[in-house]
Parts: sequence; structure tokens; C-alpha cells
Amino acid sequence: SNYWVIVPAAGSGKRMGAEIPKQYLPLNGKPIIAHTLENILSWPGLEGVIVAIAADDCEFSSIAAAQDPRVFTVIGGAERAQSVLAALDYLSARENPATPVLVHDAARPLVALDDIQKLLAAAPMALLAQPASDTIKQSQPGEGGSTVVRQTLPRDQIWLAQTPQKAPLGLLRDTLMRGLENDPLAITDEASALEQAGYHPELVAACRSNFKITHPADLILAEALLRHRAGELSA
Ligand code: CTP
Ligand code: MG
Repeated sequence: SNYWVIVPAAGSGKRMGAEIPKQYLPLNGKPIIAHTLENILSWPGLEGVIVAIAADDCEFSSIAAAQDPRVFTVIGGAERAQSVLAALDYLSARENPATPVLVHDAARPLVALDDIQKLLAAAPMALLAQPASDTIKQSQPGEGGSTVVRQTLPRDQIWLAQTPQKAPLGLLRDTLMRGLENDPLAITDEASALEQAGYHPELVAACRSNFKITHPADLILAEALLRHRAGELSA
């Protein structure tokens, strides 16, 4: 069945430390969010995209992909979950509660179509994720303001959550609303709200290119990967 995509794009990109929100920084001459949207608009079975932008955003409408008739915008909130909820509110007024929704960060322009196909074929609640490659340490406060290891977590059970994250529209909206009321700081992705409600979303392994552009070095890596892909196409 057809599905909608929600793109939270109302963040300010503090960790990137640039003059403008990171989703508007150029990757090989084109804003990150333009890459992300063009990518999404190529996914088979896509019904439409709702982008949550900041109230003071004045750049989104000048992006070419924003002119596509399948693209809609809403004003996002102070936290990512509130931006997603604004889009879910908009969507629930026009689609039925069983409609599959994929929430995808504006800052992940390089998600692969293969991984999208895997996610679409997975359980109704599912997310792309990366099996941990480093050993994972849980920390605790040490002496003199330092941070020390508390314990090592069993790496074969550790996954790093990415996006898209998929769930039925009505269920996602209900669990996000409830999660934000109960423990807003714990709702850092859609799956965390579903987990609090007792669900176990399926983990779908994504390829390495699906990292979130967060720090300056991520821009260099993303540009290199894009150039590599362009080369593959013309070869
Ligand atoms: N986001 C959003 N609304 C917010 C905060 C974040 O829509 N209030 C979006 C971001 O624009 C981004 C995605 O959620 O596409 C993932 O968030 P993150 O990578 O944390 O982006 P920022 O919050 O902008 O970055 P930072 O945390 O470094 O400030
Ligand atoms: Mg953030």
C-alpha cells in the first residue's frame, strides 16, 4: 500500500556550528535537504511528503524539490518529536489511521533505495539501523569531573537507530503524544515512543551511507560518497 514520508527539518544544527541550519548547507553545490527530498521523491509507492520547517524558515520554498506537488510543509516545534507530531496532525486530517508513515531526517541525504525497499517489506513497525561496529561503553561520572567506564555493553545486541522509521499513522501519533506527555526527554525517535507503549519495532540493517550529517567532518564524507555515486552512474 502507498505511504507518506515525514521529514523533520526544523532543527538549528547546533553541533554543526554553521551560520545557517545544517540542512541548508551545500553538498557539492546543492543544499542537503534538496538531496534528501529528491531522493525521497524517487521512492516507489510514495504518496506525498510533509516537511516540518522552522517558523522563521525563509529558505525552504526556494528549493526546486519544494515545488513538487507531492511536497507539503508544516511548522515544526522546539523538539524533533514535536516537529514530527505537527506533520502527523496535518496528515491525520486527510489520511486514514492505517496509512504507513516513514519519518526520515532531513540530515540523512544518502539513504539507499535498497534499504528503503527492505524497510517497506519489513514489519508494519520497523526502522533502519546500524549494527554497532565499535565496542560500546556505558559511562558514569568519575572523580574531578571526569567521565569513566561503568560497563561494556554486549556489542552483538547493540544497534544505532537511524531513519526512516516506519509505523501506521494513527498508532504513531497516539504513542508520540502519550510519550511526550509522560517523558518528553526519552522520546528521541519514533521507535522510542512505540517501545514505551510496549511494541517491538523490527530492526533493518542499513548500509553505512545512511549516517546523519551532524558534525563538520560528516559533510566531507557525504560529498565524497555523492561523487563516488555519480561516478558509478556515468561509468
Ligand atoms: N529537527 C526538527 N525539529 C527540531 C529539532 C530537529 O525537525 N526541533 C530535525 C532536524 O532538522 C534534523 C532531524 O530532526 O533533520 C534530526 O535532528 P538533529 O540531527 O539533532 O538536527 P538538529 O537538531 O538541527 O542538530 P543539533 O542537535 O546538533 O542542534
Ligand atoms: Mg537535535
